[in-house]
Amino acid sequence: MSTMQHERNCMVAQSGGPTVAINASLAGVIDGVSASSMYDTVYGSLNGITGILNDDLLNLTELMDGHPEYLSRLAQTPAMYLGSCRYKLPHYLDDDSPYVFIFKQFETYQTEVFYNIGGIDSKDTVLSLSEYGERIGRSVRIIRIPKTIDNDIYGTDMTFGFQSAVDIATNAIDCIHTTAASHGRVFIVELMGHKVGWLTLYAGIAGGADIILIPEIPYDINSVVKTIKSRTAGGKNFSILAVAEGAISKEIAALPKKQRKAAVAEMKYPSISYQIAHDIEEATGQETRVTVPGHFQRGGSPDAYDRVISTRFGVKAAELIINKDYGKMVALVNNKVVAVPLKDIAGKLKSVPKDSEVVETARKMGISFGE
Ligand code: F6P
Repeated sequence: MSTMQHERNCMVAQSGGPTVAINASLAGVIDGVSASSMYDTVYGSLNGITGILNDDLLNLTELMDGHPEYLSRLAQTPAMYLGSCRYKLPHYLDDDSPYVFIFKQFETYQTEVFYNIGGIDSKDTVLSLSEYGERIGRSVRIIRIPKTIDNDIYGTDMTFGFQSAVDIATNAIDCIHTTAASHGRVFIVELMGHKVGWLTLYAGIAGGADIILIPEIPYDINSVVKTIKSRTAGGKNFSILAVAEGAISKEIAALPKKQRKAAVAEMKYPSISYQIAHDIEEATGQETRVTVPGHFQRGGSPDAYDRVISTRFGVKAAELIINKDYGKMVALVNNKVVAVPLKDIAGKLKSVPKDSEVVETARKMGISFGE
């Protein structure tokens, strides 16, 4: 792909796990950039940062040119138009060769602004690129737009994609009620979230789970069993557990990090839910099943909330370029869309606080966290 002389261009990449509203924010970026009339071309990097490294770039401006309807179709289309990657750049102090190449590409494509629409995986990439650019005195501006179904990005109250995933996960729990109640079974619905439990917490409350197990609150299997037995004794012949894929027992959580990782790796079941199901069945004698909605949680159409939030984020990102306000992440704080410096949020994960109001609310509703 060749570029003309004296252009001012932008580049955009999507990365990490897809969320349903991720194309809406891509459309917002393209729209915002063209409305600003400051830049000539928006290039899309295919499959995250690897598109820049492999020179797989799409001229989005050319593609949309003369077809304004393409943009609205893109905004309405689930899936990830530019594709994704889980590739992590090495730190530039360990190996700066990919950085040298990326900045060479920015030069070739006369890129002044790089947008990253990504989740927790891409936070280090974005910050490292920003820092490396400063070190070598290059003026490519980096703007981050937070997406993830995990809602674990520090600095923003909400990431887009989360609410739609909560809707899907809630529906999965809703649908399980029928079989659980008619067969008097214990059901575990395993939901996404290796490190944080926001999705499981919200879907668990919304779907009427009796027990919610999340990574932030290690569980005691005896307490889980006790809750199920007392439900049975009280005439409730079924129980539903919403379990995050990263749920962890108190014993394993108490181990030093290395041993903890080894204990998780040695588990003989495909995931923690099957271990919990085995333990419950053994202790209660009650038939226990596991259901895993898996990647269903990342597909389909964005719900109204996500459509609105991704539009608000896209518009804010465009405003940042117009105001030359770079090195920032677009964020929702106290229901206002703001921009937070990348440096302030680097290396931080937004976990569920054990005593947060929403956890307390669930406890008051009688939901057990297996403590
Ligand atoms: O980061 C989002 C997420 O959906 C996590 O909740 C989940 O653990 C992970 O991605 C799964 O990723 P993959 O699709 O690469 O297996």
